[in-house]
Amino acid sequence: MTDTASTIQARAAGQHGAGFGRRILALADELATWSEAPDRLACTYLTSAHRSVAAQLHAWMQAAGLDASIDAVGNVVGRYASAHPGARTLIVGSHYDTVRNAGKYDGRLGILAGLVVLEALVKAGEALPFHVELIAFAEEEGVRFGTAYLGSGAIAGRFDPQWLDRRDETGVTIAEAIRSAGHDPADIAMLARRDLLGYLEVHIEQGPVLLDSGLPLGVVTAIAGAARYRVTIRGVGGHAGTVPMAARHDAFAAAAELALALEQRCRQTPGVVGTIGQIAVTDGAANVIPGQCELSLDIRADHGGKLDAAIGYVLAKIRQIEVSRGVAIDVRDLHRTPVIPCAPRMQRLLAGSIERVGAAVCHLPSGAGHDAAMFHGVTEIGMLFVRCGNGGVSHSPLEIVAEEDAGLAAAVLLDALKNLHDAV
Ligand code: GLV
Ligand code: MN
Ligand code: MN
Repeated sequence: MTDTASTIQARAAGQHGAGFGRRILALADELATWSEAPDRLACTYLTSAHRSVAAQLHAWMQAAGLDASIDAVGNVVGRYASAHPGARTLIVGSHYDTVRNAGKYDGRLGILAGLVVLEALVKAGEALPFHVELIAFAEEEGVRFGTAYLGSGAIAGRFDPQWLDRRDETGVTIAEAIRSAGHDPADIAMLARRDLLGYLEVHIEQGPVLLDSGLPLGVVTAIAGAARYRVTIRGVGGHAGTVPMAARHDAFAAAAELALALEQRCRQTPGVVGTIGQIAVTDGAANVIPGQCELSLDIRADHGGKLDAAIGYVLAKIRQIEVSRGVAIDVRDLHRTPVIPCAPRMQRLLAGSIERVGAAVCHLPSGAGHDAAMFHGVTEIGMLFVRCGNGGVSHSPLEIVAEEDAGLAAAVLLDALKNLHDAV
């Protein structure tokens, strides 16, 4: 049987991809050695572990032949300049911060895929007709300061200077953390990019869709809309042994009622999800009725109308709980992103590249938020999902990705870069 051009190309992509995949996984292992905790991966914004990861990424970008720097918000930027100085710039990016007790690939897979691909282009002396900036975003998860997208928000021109006053659990503000890392918060306003060619992000799927479909890669159609709040419930503390149940204003019991109402409301509408992922009883003790409770509230949906309706329900429920339980509930907005569609032309570009490396094309929405969302309205965005192993678990140390899938994703990114001028 004679080889067709496409099977030859797929085989070449496979061989290339295998090398890419091995290297991506080895580099992800190395990055995971820096952590705030001895027994698990935690790398939150501008901690010492986070700054070590930035320094390592900077060194790798330089070694790959990119013009590398760390900017005022902590993003690590590696520029591969085109021979045409007036050309526009494509951003390839994802984040290097993690949740607490994280997997090794959320965010980092996309940075490392970009790194190995640009390294290959530099090695081969292959110029592109546009500039590429590989950006390892400093913050996407919102773990340390409750505010997400600090890194990509700065590059997209969406960094709100009021964020600088937000404090972590120990009282340190974002501005102070930035200054201790040797940067000047005043320089962040200058990081916004204009006149971009586009934005591409490779990311682990963080769910089971590709795994269950037996497919290594998928083209993202849209990123779910999300709203995140910090909720403070103030009740009345007291002695756990003496205050009769009917006389209590228990802040934690109010939080529990809210959690169950949220769960019930989100279960009613497919495509809507709600989570209380953090909760703390202030000065809690086994023998004290909770007087104050702080919690996070995260609501997402695949459709703007569904998101608005779920938020409306939950806020009304909060007012009802205040009255029925005699507690005061303060709700502070942390961030809100609408449902973000990926650009049809970027979807076609990625689908064409997937076909050319010999894989089947599949389209799927993203339930998770991504840095790409910050670039909506700024430039055309495209996202490539990579199959997540282990049942699709993520935000967990059990998150895994296969070497072959990571390699294939890098081969697709390389192909997309080479074909971008035709498609966009
Ligand atoms: C990012 O991981 C998110 O919260 O979706
Ligand atoms: Mn994440
Ligand atoms: Mn992520």
